[in-house]
Amino acid sequence: MKTRITELLGIRYPVFQAAMSWASSNAPLVIAVSNAGGMGVIAAGPMRPGDFRRALADIRAGTDKPYGVNIPLNGARAAELLDIAFEARIPVMVASQGGPREQMPRFRAAGTKWLHVVASVEHAKKAEAAGVDALVVDGAEAGGHPPPSEVTTLVLVRRVVKAVKLPVVASGGVADGAGIAALLALGADAVQLGTRFIATVEASVHENYKRAVLAADVDGSTLVARGKLPIRQLKNAFSARYEAAEKAGATQEELEALFNASSLKQAALEGDVVWGKVEAGQSAGLVDEILPAAELVKRLISELEEARKRLASL
Ligand SMILES: Cc1cc2nc3c(=O)[nH]c(=O)nc-3n(C[C@H](O)[C@H](O)[C@H](O)COP(=O)(O)O)c2cc1C
Repeated sequence: MKTRITELLGIRYPVFQAAMSWASSNAPLVIAVSNAGGMGVIAAGPMRPGDFRRALADIRAGTDKPYGVNIPLNGARAAELLDIAFEARIPVMVASQGGPREQMPRFRAAGTKWLHVVASVEHAKKAEAAGVDALVVDGAEAGGHPPPSEVTTLVLVRRVVKAVKLPVVASGGVADGAGIAALLALGADAVQLGTRFIATVEASVHENYKRAVLAADVDGSTLVARGKLPIRQLKNAFSARYEAAEKAGATQEELEALFNASSLKQAALEGDVVWGKVEAGQSAGLVDEILPAAELVKRLISELEEARKRLASL
């Protein structure tokens, strides 16, 4: 199976395991996915520099296949994390939150492919003009930080594919091979799955978090802080309290304080899925089994083949 992304990155399948803070902030998930022929991506954002350096060494020891590193460029520790990634001569950068112009040149000169996460047509065009190698395009179904515009993956990916020449990795709302086939049909060159990979043996989140993903249906997530920089998470006591405060006319300061009183870490590491931010996408409703990541990649590819056959037979 060849696409512009498999060719660019040297991977077997056009399937990415999305960067997810905590869930993919260590080596095992990344190693399992890359060894299985997909693109494993470590989420460096919440990591301490020493832990990040050690995890990169573990990944290099665990696979000779390409892997990716996600660093939110405007994060507090970004400069240090970027230096560590640069020293490690990582094969693929998946940069988010912030422009690529300052950091990208040294990475590309060292042979790193630079992918940039965008969630609007405007940012896709800007990233293309800045010279990135490919785009990751996130639609509204996505867990984590979907586009504030709330434009869905189905529509945004199609629009971006027509607006730019770069290869596109489509992201948001996909949990199986049929979804991968759908987005490849739209013109994407690869497809990224986040929420689906939370329900893997290797994802480093608390069991409560995995169980919450399994239990949720397709309407089980919500956007918190709509109209600002929203997060998509599973509905729980925290999201209900935030919504009630909005409805009651709380001030911006009050809402901000409420937002900051809860965290993804609280849900992911401590297992507090009641008051923590249980970030996950609408596709949680399509997930009903925890699998080893390598088996999941295999299954996704056989489902993709089935979908292709079905389309060809129509
Ligand atoms: C728990 C969680 C944590 C995430 N953390 C990050 C992150 O650190 N950096 C990032 O660029 N995107 C992050 N995302 C977004 C994912 O990379 C990806 O875009 C999203 O999960 C795709 O949508 P899906 O969940 O419907 O598959 C996160 C998503 C989730 C669910």
